[in-house]
Amino acid sequence: MERILDLRSDTVTKPTAEMREAMKNAVVGDDILRDDPTVIELEELAAGIFGKEAALLTISGTMSNEIAVMVYTKPGDEIVVFADSHLYNLETGGISALSGAQPRPLKSDSGTYDTGELGEAIMPPGVQRARTRLICLENTFHLNRGLAVEKSRYADTIAIARKHDLPIFMDGARIFNAAVALNTTVADLVSFCDAVDVCLCKGLAAPLGSMLVGSRDFIDEARRMRQRIGGGMRQAGVIAAPGILALTRMVERLPEDHENAEKIRSGLEALGIRVDRGGALTNIVNLDVSSAGWKASPFADRLNGCGIKVKVCSEHTLRMVTHHDILARDISFILDTIGNALRRR
Ligand SMILES: Cc1ncc(COP(=O)(O)O)c(C=O)c1O
Repeated sequence: MERILDLRSDTVTKPTAEMREAMKNAVVGDDILRDDPTVIELEELAAGIFGKEAALLTISGTMSNEIAVMVYTKPGDEIVVFADSHLYNLETGGISALSGAQPRPLKSDSGTYDTGELGEAIMPPGVQRARTRLICLENTFHLNRGLAVEKSRYADTIAIARKHDLPIFMDGARIFNAAVALNTTVADLVSFCDAVDVCLCKGLAAPLGSMLVGSRDFIDEARRMRQRIGGGMRQAGVIAAPGILALTRMVERLPEDHENAEKIRSGLEALGIRVDRGGALTNIVNLDVSSAGWKASPFADRLNGCGIKVKVCSEHTLRMVTHHDILARDISFILDTIGNALRRR
């Protein structure tokens, strides 16, 4: 059978043989009753890695993000989000539907807020005003770019949050990619955050699951909110077991994904295709095919016909994501195929 190289996302990774074995052998119990030792082990492991008091296993990054907003807000409150964030764009309006809060989206190119705009976005007190309750960040930023943002670049945001006594939530779906790219630890990168979401099923290749980390009080309330939206789980050790391997075995191989992405970037540039540059990039390649006279959709169809799947982002841009199931030796095939596709026009 022809091997399909699926570069649409790192969510397409299949669990490793070791993960499947761990799922089979996991010691389990009823986690709603806190009887599942494997879930408890995973949650303690995650809390330790992130330098926070406690952690909670949820089904997905979306669930973790939404639970965090539910914990920090009441109906009618407001939260500040990036206009391009997953939280604002790709969670079926969950901020308003689940929390009853309203988002105040701010544009950003850099993955940080403009200091003046953020200052103005925090609602002053007043009988007609919503109350701002939370500032949300996303690192890597954003899902079509994969830009790793250094902690120092959040200094103004942290100062504004402290001044207004506002918590900071980080959607860190790919925070390990960010830490690897910036040569630091996740604990350091999120040390100023009150709560963080990290996904186990993207570059870390677990089949599903996400961790929320934060203070014990935050996680206790998050556990209640998870239950409210039907996310409490029984023998969840079968999910936690590959999650433990994701956190302990898969982080060290992320540089490989970043190297492969960089090879794709420079190969595309050599073919005359413009790629997103600037800052510390990770496993996501954002390319603009208009420079080669193409639109994104027919270009994606052409590659699809050659066994390479990519994601269309806009009329002229596409995304290619490297991950565990894309090998170093696949890169020359990918670039050759793209080169041929360009020539066969
Ligand atoms: C930045 C970001 N946050 C959150 C999520 C949501 O994760 P999930 O698909 O597990 O709900 C994604 C998924 O791609 C993401 O890219």
